[in-house]
Amino acid sequence: MIKTPIKKALLIAAALATTTSALAAGKLEIFSWWAGDEGPALEALIKLYKQKYPNVAVDNATVTGGAGTNARAVLKTRMLGGTPPDSFQVHAGQELIGTWVVAGRMEDLSSLFKSEGWSKVFPADVIKLISSKGGIWSVPVNVHRSNVMWYNPAKLKAWGVTVPKTWPEFISTCATLKKKGVAAPLVVGENWTQQHLWENVMIGTLGAQGWENLWAGKTKFTDPKVVGAFTTFGKVMDCANKDASGLSWQQASDRIVSGQSAFNIMGDWAAGYFTTTKKLEPGKGFGWATAPGTSKTFVMLADSFGLPKGAKDRAEAINWLKLLGSREGQDTFNPLKGSIAARTDSDLSKYNTYSRSAATDWKNSKIVGSMAHGAVAPESFTSAFGAVIDQFVATKNSAGAAAAAQALAVRSGFGK
Ligand code: GAL
Repeated sequence: MIKTPIKKALLIAAALATTTSALAAGKLEIFSWWAGDEGPALEALIKLYKQKYPNVAVDNATVTGGAGTNARAVLKTRMLGGTPPDSFQVHAGQELIGTWVVAGRMEDLSSLFKSEGWSKVFPADVIKLISSKGGIWSVPVNVHRSNVMWYNPAKLKAWGVTVPKTWPEFISTCATLKKKGVAAPLVVGENWTQQHLWENVMIGTLGAQGWENLWAGKTKFTDPKVVGAFTTFGKVMDCANKDASGLSWQQASDRIVSGQSAFNIMGDWAAGYFTTTKKLEPGKGFGWATAPGTSKTFVMLADSFGLPKGAKDRAEAINWLKLLGSREGQDTFNPLKGSIAARTDSDLSKYNTYSRSAATDWKNSKIVGSMAHGAVAPESFTSAFGAVIDQFVATKNSAGAAAAAQALAVRSGFGK
C-alpha cells in the first residue's frame, strides 16, 4: 500500500499524533463530600470517566460530613486562596448562586448546555434553579427528595402502629410507641439533620405554598402559624433520641434497620445507603412514606458540579461535566445514590422500586425547594440557621426562635 517514503512518513506521523493524544496525560481533581459509605455512586461515575479518558489521573478529593457542612468550609478556603478544585459539588440553587456566582468566581456554562442539548433534557424548573444573571452555573447530576419518612416494616407491624399521615398524628403515634417501651420513636442526628426535620415539619404544617411564601419574604417567621409550627417541631423533637448531636445520618439510619427507633425523616440518599451499602430490599428491609402532611409535595434538592474560574485542568473538568450531564452518567450514578436523574429521559428499568416511586412523584407532585440543602435560601441564612435550631432545641422557645429566624431573613435580604 505505502509506495513512497513521503507517504510512509506521513502515515507514521499521523499514527504518532493519534497515540500522543490518546496517551496525553492529564489530571482532574473533583471535590465533594461523598466520602466513605456515601462514596459508591461517585466512584462508579469516576470509573466511567476513566474508561473514557484512561490517561487522566483523577483525584477524588472528599471532605467527610453529611450535607457538606465540612466540605463547604474547606472549599471556601480554597476558593479564596486561589486554589480551586477543577470541579466541585454544590447544591443547585442559592447555595452556589448566592455565593461563588455573585462573587464572580464561576464560569458560565451556557455554551456547554447549548452544545450538549441540555436545555431540552433538563426540566425547565431545574434550569431556572441553576440560572441567574443570564448564565447557567452548574450541571445537576441528580434530584434528591427531602420529604421522606423511613421505617422498618416488620417492626411497625410488631408494634402494631401504622404510618402517621400528619404531624399531630405522628405525635400521638409517638406517645403510643413510648408506652410500648420505645424510648425514642424518632431518630435524629447532628444539627443539619434537625434542620432537615424542621423543614419537613414546616412544610407539613404550613403547606407547600406557605413554605414558598417564607422564602419569598411574603410570610414572616413571626407569623403565628410559623410560631405554631415551631411548637409542633418541638413536640416532634420530644419523640427523639437524646444523643442526636453525636450521630451521623448513616448512624441514624442504622437505628431504623436495627429497630431501635421507628421513624427517621431523611432525604433519599438514605435509600442509597439502605440498598447500596446495606444491601436491603426496598419495601422489605426498609419502608418509606412521604413525611407527615406532605403527600402531594416533592421537596427537592439537586447535587450539581460547577467549573470555578482558574481551574487548573479545565479541559478535563469540562469532560467531567459532560459525563455528569449525560444520560449514561446519570443512569450510572443515580441507581446507586438513591436519587433520580435530573434528566427527563433516564432509563427507569435501571432503578429500584423506591426510586421509581420517587420518579412518579417527581412528575405528579407540587415541587418546592429544600432549605436544608441549599435550594431556596441564601448561604447567609442557612449558615446561621443551625444556631437558631440548636438554641430552640435547648429552650423550646418558639417565639424566640421565630424572631431570630426573621432577623436572619431580613439580614439575608429576603425577609421584610
Ligand atoms: C445532601 C446531598 C446528598 C447527600 C446528603 C448527605 O446535602 O445533597 O447528595 O450527600 O447531603 O450527605
